Amino acid sequence: MDCEDAVVLTLSIPDELREVFAYREGQHLPVRAEIDGQEVRRTYSVCASVAENELRLGIRVQAGGVFSNYASDRLVVGDIIHAMPPAGRFRTSLCKEQSKSYAAFVAGSGITPVLSIIRTILETESLSEIQLFYGNRKRSTTMFVNELYDLKNRFPDRLALHFIMSREATDIDLYSGRLDRTSVQNLHDAFLKDCVPDEFFICGPNPMIDEISSTLVDLGFAKDRIHTERYRVGDVRAPRENRQAAESVATDEQEIADVSVITDGHRQKFKMYEGELNIVDAAARQSIELPFSCKSGVCSTCRCKLVAGEVVMAQNYALEQWELDSGFILPCQSIPVTEKVTLDYDQV
Ligand code: FES
Repeated sequence: MDCEDAVVLTLSIPDELREVFAYREGQHLPVRAEIDGQEVRRTYSVCASVAENELRLGIRVQAGGVFSNYASDRLVVGDIIHAMPPAGRFRTSLCKEQSKSYAAFVAGSGITPVLSIIRTILETESLSEIQLFYGNRKRSTTMFVNELYDLKNRFPDRLALHFIMSREATDIDLYSGRLDRTSVQNLHDAFLKDCVPDEFFICGPNPMIDEISSTLVDLGFAKDRIHTERYRVGDVRAPRENRQAAESVATDEQEIADVSVITDGHRQKFKMYEGELNIVDAAARQSIELPFSCKSGVCSTCRCKLVAGEVVMAQNYALEQWELDSGFILPCQSIPVTEKVTLDYDQV
């Protein structure tokens, strides 16, 4: 990739697992590796189109980022890492006969799932067009520039690229600064008034998503036409820290719930104590490993169905209203509020 602080990680999937790892545009998947004796999990988005059928993950290399630096400096072709199947619903229904107009507002590495979406739309809907508004600090740290220009060359009339830089001079005022309420209003007036988008995709940090979504709603666009994908939020602790936090809960603390979990038809039980932060950590303390990745309520790796009892969730950026209505929860964010709760991981 022509970007100084990002890499692309391509996963080769064993033939017998190809079906399980089939992905849709805009999806992400959790990866796991043992790095310097520590288990590290992260979730990264696929950047390839569906037709490419290649699990390429875009990774921003963060200063001090354990997995991203490992992927950048130490992983070599042939190494094995663990991955869970792709997940996520950051997309819309595509149909090769339809003619639609799309727009995407993206900040930094938020381009990764959007690139997958853009590629897939352009390759699937030959009558549709898309405008990308892509915010970065400067050109040298802008991910996938060459890939975007390649797409522009392939689809010159149906893809419009707008690069917006916050820390580098540009020739056009509209392309300078951050993607915020004012700039989105200005960009809308300049580029979207004559070509009104049917649907929007927004990916970036939480404040940016909230600000742009509310600006679009104020401009008259319906909420259900705005699709969002959030970066991981909050402080994600390493599993060892999580275990230590969980282990630090004294067993003479007051019990708050009996928790049953059903996975692959098997039921396991454990007790949760006052002071424990969430069901995933409480299970880990008792050597029961439940799926998780971000532990921030974003990636939905831990998603399962609550079939008995009640919980409260600290934050939820992953589940949609219909899932909440159907009883799905994020155990990494959940604490029981009834004496017994049962989680079913087999219901999807
Ligand atoms: S682990 Fe990511 S939402 Fe729970």
